[in-house]
Amino acid sequence: MSNLSPTHLRCEYLVNPLAIDTPRPRLSWELTDSDPHARGVRQSAYQIMVSDDQGVIVWDSGEVQSDETLHIHYAGAPLEEGKPYTWKVRVWDQDGQVSDWSNPASFSMGIRGMGWTTAPAWDAPPPPVISHWITLPLADTWCETQSPPATMLRKPFSISGKVRRAVLYASALGVYELRLNGKRVGENILAPEWTDYHQKVQYQAYDVTEQVTNGENVLAAMVGAGWYAGRIGMAQEYAGVWRGVYGRRLALIARLSIELDTGETITINTDKSWRVTDQGPIRSADLYDGEVYDARLEMPGWDMPAFDDQPWQTADTIKGPRLAAQPNEPIRITRTLTPVAVNQPAPGVYVFDMGQNMVGWVRLTLHGENGREIRLRYGEALNPDGTLYRDNLRGAPQTDIYICRGEGEEIFEPHFTYHGFRFVEVCGLDYRPTVQDLTGCVFHSAAAEAGQFDCSEPLLNKIMSAIQWTQRSNLHGIPTDCPQRDERLGWMGDAQVFSQTAMFNMDMAAFFTKWMADVREAQTKDGRFPDIAPHPFNPDQCFSGNPGWGDAGIIIPWLMYLNYGDKDLLETHFEAAKRYVDWIVRNNPDLIWRNRDQLTPLWYGDWLNADTFADLAGVPRKGGEMPKEVFSTAFLAKSAQLVGKMAEVLNKREDKVKYCHLAEKVRAAFNHAFVSSDGRILGDTQAGYALALSFNLLPMELRPLAAQHMLRAFEPYDGALSTGFLSTIRMMIELTHFGYVEKAYQLALRREIPSWGYMIEHGGTTIWERWDGWVEGRGFQDPGMNSFNHYAIGSVGEWFYRVIGGLNPDESGPGWKQIKIHPVPGGSLTWAEVAYHSVRGLIRSRWEKKETGFTLRVDIPVNTTATIYLPVKNGYPITESGLPVEKSPAVETLGWREGCAVFRVGSGRYEFHVKNV
Ligand code: BGC
Repeated sequence: MSNLSPTHLRCEYLVNPLAIDTPRPRLSWELTDSDPHARGVRQSAYQIMVSDDQGVIVWDSGEVQSDETLHIHYAGAPLEEGKPYTWKVRVWDQDGQVSDWSNPASFSMGIRGMGWTTAPAWDAPPPPVISHWITLPLADTWCETQSPPATMLRKPFSISGKVRRAVLYASALGVYELRLNGKRVGENILAPEWTDYHQKVQYQAYDVTEQVTNGENVLAAMVGAGWYAGRIGMAQEYAGVWRGVYGRRLALIARLSIELDTGETITINTDKSWRVTDQGPIRSADLYDGEVYDARLEMPGWDMPAFDDQPWQTADTIKGPRLAAQPNEPIRITRTLTPVAVNQPAPGVYVFDMGQNMVGWVRLTLHGENGREIRLRYGEALNPDGTLYRDNLRGAPQTDIYICRGEGEEIFEPHFTYHGFRFVEVCGLDYRPTVQDLTGCVFHSAAAEAGQFDCSEPLLNKIMSAIQWTQRSNLHGIPTDCPQRDERLGWMGDAQVFSQTAMFNMDMAAFFTKWMADVREAQTKDGRFPDIAPHPFNPDQCFSGNPGWGDAGIIIPWLMYLNYGDKDLLETHFEAAKRYVDWIVRNNPDLIWRNRDQLTPLWYGDWLNADTFADLAGVPRKGGEMPKEVFSTAFLAKSAQLVGKMAEVLNKREDKVKYCHLAEKVRAAFNHAFVSSDGRILGDTQAGYALALSFNLLPMELRPLAAQHMLRAFEPYDGALSTGFLSTIRMMIELTHFGYVEKAYQLALRREIPSWGYMIEHGGTTIWERWDGWVEGRGFQDPGMNSFNHYAIGSVGEWFYRVIGGLNPDESGPGWKQIKIHPVPGGSLTWAEVAYHSVRGLIRSRWEKKETGFTLRVDIPVNTTATIYLPVKNGYPITESGLPVEKSPAVETLGWREGCAVFRVGSGRYEFHVKNV
C-alpha cells in the first residue's frame, strides 16, 4: 500500500460546490504523504469514481497512467441538473503502489428552469419557465436622490414527509438575504454580487436540508439596491443618473427543490403567489450611502408561519437577465475585530478605533428609548483634534442610521452596504459606550488564504500585513481599486499589477475565473478590453483600450496558467486576447502605440509616479513619469509575447508564429524609436528601464547597461523611487535580477517618504493609493483622490515572496508542478520564511544566516520537482541534511547559475547548509 493520500478534493476550484454550470466539470486534488521523511514521491496513475445520489457509478475513469492531479475533466454519463454527485480518487505512486481511496467529496449540478439557460453548452433544451423574477407592483416611488427601502418577500408553504435533501437557488436584481422559518439561509453577504447585469446575473445555491421542516414553512427574502439599483462609481458622469444604472425595480428569483424520503419532489418557485412589501425596517440601503434601519418597523415573525401578511401586496413578475451559477467563493465575514479604543473628541461624539483599516461593517449593541436615532459614520483617518476625517470619501457618505425600538438591549448590523474604515463615529447615544459594544465584521470574497510571509525585520512583516489587509479590503465579487470613496470599481491596471501578489496571498483561481468572464463581457466590438470590469457605461464609448489597464485581460489569464495550471481558461480567453492585440496593431500600424483620440487614449500611464507628488521638498517636479508612448508600446510588446505563449500552450501553431513574430517586431520598433546605443531609454526614468527589462524588450548586450541607467535614475531623487502603479514591482524585481540587491532591499526597508515604511510608520495598516497620501508637516494629499486602502503599490508583495522568500512559479511546469526556490538574502535580514499553499500542496522555504553559516530548509509537495538556488560562494562545502550534498541520494547537482549553486530535488523536506558564508 502507498503512503499517499489524495486530499483537498476540488471541483472547478471549489470545495463541494452546489451549482456547477458546466457539463464536464474539472476535478483536482492534492497529495500528502504520511511518511514525513519520504522524498521524490510521485503519482504514476489515478482512478476517479463518481456516483449519483442513488449510489450508481456514473463514471469510473479506470486506472489512468498520468501524473496529473489538476483539472481532470469529468468524462462519464451525462450529469443531470440539480443532482448531487459524490466522487473519490485513488492514486498509484512511482513504485506502482496504490493508495487508499480519498474521503468522498461532492459536487452538485446547477439548474436551468428558472427562466433562463445557464449553460449554453448543456445539450438538452431547458425545461419550461417555472420561476419568475418577482417584485413590488409598479408604483412611481423612484427617488433619484435616495436609495429605495428594501423589498421584503414571503411565501408560506407546507410539506408532509421527511426531507431527504433540500436546495435553495436564488438571485436578485439588487442584493439579497434569504430566510427560511425565521433563520438566515447561508452566510453570503451582498449576493448575487456584481456582474454586468445587462448580460447576466449570478445565482447562488444553498443546502437547506436541515432548515425545511415537516409541516408549515416560510421562505422569505429581503432585497436591497446594491450595484443593480444603487450607486456605482462614475454613474453620474457617464450614465447621467445618480443611481439605478442597470434598473430600478428590485426583484427576487428563487427555487426551492425539496426531495422527500419517499422520493417525491416538491419545488417552491417565485411567482405571483408571493407577498411583498417595502414597509419594513430597512428604509434605505446603498453601498456608498449606508443603511437606514428603523427598528420600530420590524415585523416580528414575518419570516415564520402564522404571520398575517394581509397588509402586504401581491408580487408582480418582470423579465430579468440570463442567470449563471456563481463560480467563485461568496462574500462572507471572515473575521471580526474588537476596537482598540473609544474616544470622545466632542460631547456625545464617540470615535471607535478598530486598530486596523478594514472593510465590512460593524455590529453595535446599544440601548435607547423608542425613536432615538443613532448615527454611525465611517472614515479611514482622524483630524488632528481626534474627529473623523472624511474628505477623501468624496461622495460616499458611508453613514448608517439606526432608530431604536426602545426595548432594552438592541443589536444593529446592516445588510446591504459596505464601508472602508478604521474609525467609526457613533452619535446619538445618551451614555458612554465601551469597546465591547462594537464589533468590526470584516467581509470579502472568501477565497482561501494561501500564503504566509515572515522575516527577521518587523517592518517588512507589517508591510506584508498591510498588503494582505488591502487585498481583503478590495475583493467584493470583483477586484476593486478602493473600498471607501464613491468609486470601488474593477480597475484593470491595479488588478493586473497586483495579481501575482494576490495569488501568493490567497487562492484566487475561482475569483479570477469569475472576473475574467466579466472582462470578456466588457470587451468592445472592435476588440478593446475595458479599463474597468464590469463596465456599466458602454465600453464602446468610454473607458476601454488603455495601455496597462486593458492588458490585464492578457496578463491575468497567463498568471492563472502559471499559478493554477489553468489551460482551459487560456482556451476560453484566447480569441478575446487576440482581438485585443489585433485592435492595437490595427490602430498603430508602425507598432508604436500612440495616443490618437478619445477611443484610443493613453490616459493613465504609470499612474501616480513621483511627478504627482504634492509639494514634497527635494523631489524633482518632473522626471518620474515615463513617456506615455514608451509605456504603451512596452505593454503592446508584453501582450503580443503572451498571446504567442498562450498559442504555444494551446498548440495553435499559426498563431504562435504570428504573435511571437509580432512581439519581435514590436520589440524592434521599441528599440528603434526609444532606445539609444548606450542603453538609454527615452525619458530616462526608473520606470522606463524597469518595464523594458521586465518585458525583455532590449537586446542582450544593452540589458546590463539599461540596469545601470535605472540605478542612476535614482540619483535626482536622492536614492528614492519615482515609480508609479505599474512599474514599481517591476523595478524591484529588475534591480534584484541585475545584481542591485542591496538597492532593492534599501527601498523595501526605507522609512522616509516615499516608501512603504513611511506609510506603516505613519499609521498605515493598509497600503495607500499615493506614496504621499499623508505627509508630516503637509498633511493629506488632494481629497479628490486619496485612498488609504489601494493595493496597486502593494504589488511589492510579489517581491517579498519571490525574492526574500525565494518562491517562484516556473513556466516549465505550470501550476507549481515545477518550482524554483531562489531566495536572495539582503539588507539587515537574518532569516525569512514563506509558506504557500499551492494547487499541489504546501511549499515552504526558510533561510537563516548565522555566524556559523547559511541554512535553507524547503518543503516540496508530493508529485512536484524543484530547482533550488543556493546563494553561496563557489568552493564552500555544502551539506544537505548533514551529508555532503553530492552524497545526498535525492539531490541532483545542476551546477552554477546566476551566482548560485543549483540543485534539483523531488518532493520532501531538505535542509541545505553552507558554513561561513
Ligand atoms: C482609480 C485607480 C485607477 C485609475 C485609472 C482611479 O480613480 O482609483 O486606481 O486605476 O483611476 O487611472
